[in-house]
Order: sequence, then C-alpha cells, then structure tokens
Amino acid sequence: MKVVVYEKVFLGVGILCLVACLAALFYASAVMGIHLPGREGELDPEEIASTPPFDDPGLRRVAPKEYEAVVVGKVWQFDPREIRVPVGSKVTFIATSPDVIHGFHVQGTRINMMLIPGQISKTSYRFQIPGEHLILCHEYCGFGHHLMYGNLIVEEE
Ligand code: CUA
Repeated sequence: MKVVVYEKVFLGVGILCLVACLAALFYASAVMGIHLPGREGELDPEEIASTPPFDDPGLRRVAPKEYEAVVVGKVWQFDPREIRVPVGSKVTFIATSPDVIHGFHVQGTRINMMLIPGQISKTSYRFQIPGEHLILCHEYCGFGHHLMYGNLIVEEE
C-alpha cells in the first residue's frame, strides 16, 4: 500500500516541477522579454563588403542612449574590434560572417550569438554598469580562433 502513496507523491512532485519550469519559461519570455537571438534575414556571404549595413561596420547612434553595432566576424577578428558606449545605453548588435561560423559572446552579459555565413544575427542589450567586457568568439573557427576577441567598453558619463 505504501508504494502506491510514494508513487503518487513522486508523480505530484514531477508535475509540480514541470509546471514551475513552464511558468518560469513563460515569465522569462513574456514578462522579462528574454528571447533567443533572432535570425534577422539572409544575405550572400560573398557580397558582404558591398551589402548594407555590413559594407560599413561600426557603432551608430540611432536615438539618445540607443545604438546599433554592425559587426562582421571573420577569420580571425571582429570588425570593429572595439566598441565604446556610455553607461545606460541600449545596443542592438547586428552581425554576420563572410567565411566560417563564429561565435559572438560579450562576457558578463547574456549576449551570445552565432555568426553564420549567409545569415544575419541580431540581439539587444542595455549596459547599466560601467566597465570593460571582453568580446569572444566561442566557436572553434580554425588556426587563429584564440586570437579572435574584441572589447566593449561601457563609459561613465
Ligand atoms: Cu572565430 Cu573562433
């Protein structure tokens, strides 16, 4: 008889965990607005140098405290290598790769994208604390993978 009671308890705990996880997932996506980096479109990886906005990588101010960072990750560097924004800025990263698959991770943040030839990756983040972040390629991309990094500096006003 006791076995049946335990089974019911474990079943209940299992269902409770599932409901709690689904609720957390819903809260994160619907209330906190956390999403996977989006696939924003496609382009010909061989035409990157002449396809806007990737023909002119860099940081652009689109509104007060809002920036757009166009990044090209290629063997084995990020263009631009350094990004500087004032504290409190929201930065939308728009990135791609002309050659092989690279990673794009800004340390100390949840920014973590894949840069895939032929695809445009996009994600946004608001930098609330001044400081320096390392930008890392976290996808093995060949001989110079370990040299592929950049800096993101959040400046005090
Ligand atoms: Cu690019 Cu590893």
